[in-house]
Amino acid sequence: MSTRTLQQIIRGVATSDGAGVKLRRSIGAQPGLRLDPFLMLDEFGTENPDDYIAGFPPHPHRGFETVTYMIDGHMRHEDHMGNVGELKSGGVQWMTAGRGVIHSEMPQQESGRMRGFQLWINLPANEKMKPAAYRDIPAAEIPQVDLPDGGSVKVIAGSVQIGGQRTAGPINPTPDTLATDPLYLDITLPAGGSFTQPVHAGYNAFAYVYEGSVTIDGKAVPQYSAGVLGDGEQVTLQAGDAGVRAVLIAARPLHEPVVQYGPFVMNTREEIEQALADYRNGTLAA
Ligand code: CO
Repeated sequence: MSTRTLQQIIRGVATSDGAGVKLRRSIGAQPGLRLDPFLMLDEFGTENPDDYIAGFPPHPHRGFETVTYMIDGHMRHEDHMGNVGELKSGGVQWMTAGRGVIHSEMPQQESGRMRGFQLWINLPANEKMKPAAYRDIPAAEIPQVDLPDGGSVKVIAGSVQIGGQRTAGPINPTPDTLATDPLYLDITLPAGGSFTQPVHAGYNAFAYVYEGSVTIDGKAVPQYSAGVLGDGEQVTLQAGDAGVRAVLIAARPLHEPVVQYGPFVMNTREEIEQALADYRNGTLAA
């Protein structure tokens, strides 16, 4: 099997979003740093309530999916469909904005650590206007598989094969059920530990390091950075001296034009104008 090399390191840059939540943005920090179909990866991680307390008051999305993975902390999601989701440590919120969603994500803690990720995954043209959907996945529904030589893997989307045993995550699509067919793993390795995962050839993939460091094909990816992988059929992550915690994320690229205006991601400018008009007249999320 061909092994993926490390092609590029995208360091997370400090930014803020919502009502002033401090974030590190890597994938998508600039339009040239998108990785089809990934539009953006934000990591939030802080012990300081001032960095998160303002949260994300009601705001719209159209044309893609948002995946929020809470490692530590508690936020409440509310949307125009009447969904209320308590996003707690280890839980995932998988939201398909489709034709339109208006939601808020507000902290439910006034102190302590808040840490996690929000990933934006694009939808293909023929799925951008599908009905909005929301799925709340508590930590208990996300399998954690121990590795034979130490460490563990949480399977959020896609599947792993470890010790002859296949384990699928709660999101386990095929290209027929979800065009982007994503893989999303949260990997913990001790110092010197390693983990090899098959990744479909042709899919775009990256590993984002949020603790420690990792080596891929002989090159180190430092903390708070996304290591974008070259093509191939598998990838091996080798933990650095302090071990590593990283997410490994892959998906099938869409090869479509991307026109983004803030929280609206469509294929053409006309479709963006329509999204803005629909939002103004109250029919975006109806
Ligand atoms: Co949002």
